[in-house]
Amino acid sequence: TVGKSTNIFWHECPVGKLERQKLLNQKGCVVWITGLSGAGKSTLACSVGRELHTRGKLSYILDGDNLRHGLNKDLGFKAEDRVENIRRVGEVGKLFADAGLICIASLISPYRRDRDACRSMLTDSNFIEARLFGDASYVFMNIPLEVCEKRDAKGLYKLARAGKIKGFTGIDDPYEPPMNCEIEIQQKDGVCPTPSAMAGQVVSYLEEKGFLE
Ligand code: PPS
Repeated sequence: TVGKSTNIFWHECPVGKLERQKLLNQKGCVVWITGLSGAGKSTLACSVGRELHTRGKLSYILDGDNLRHGLNKDLGFKAEDRVENIRRVGEVGKLFADAGLICIASLISPYRRDRDACRSMLTDSNFIEARLFGDASYVFMNIPLEVCEKRDAKGLYKLARAGKIKGFTGIDDPYEPPMNCEIEIQQKDGVCPTPSAMAGQVVSYLEEKGFLE
């Protein structure tokens, strides 16, 4: 059919993932950070990236907001666009992981089905779903939104509340929290962990699982 790839073939490259990993002394994987706007995803991603760099490990951040300036500039925020956004970033993450890098994807990625699709797509690439939210208690769905909305660093929640942005995650578009995440970052006694404490949690996990050797 026109518009779909047909009659295509896979070419094996002479140097494989294992050889690249050996060269880099690390294992390629994807750390996928999901959470509401303003939860601190980008802050965590940057902090993890810095810590890994300090340890001599090669990583790369795929930030949803940033990618929408280029690769995903043709996509908006309606459901089908978000689905395509997540799919593309999943595919790029897969390439990075195959290259031997520790890829840190930081996107709202609000729909469970899309994250699960990424997880299956990245089975061989070691997918780690990190999740950010505001409170450990079972009211976490409300509290993080309040926290995020209170921060409102970009003023987007205010615009969404005023109806000037339609389909804003947490306001009039859903966020489905993960049910099977490997890492949870949460507030303790109403206080968010520092960026370096959050990064420490992720890096320790990577270390524990042998991704840094
Ligand atoms: S998604 O849902 O995963 O496709 O979103 P993502 O690619 O991570 O982009 C999120 C950033 O886009 C800005 N923005 C919005 N977010 C949510 N809903 C709506 N309608 C919206 N419009 C613009 C916002 O700055 C998000 O950045 P973060 O870093 O999450 O605050």
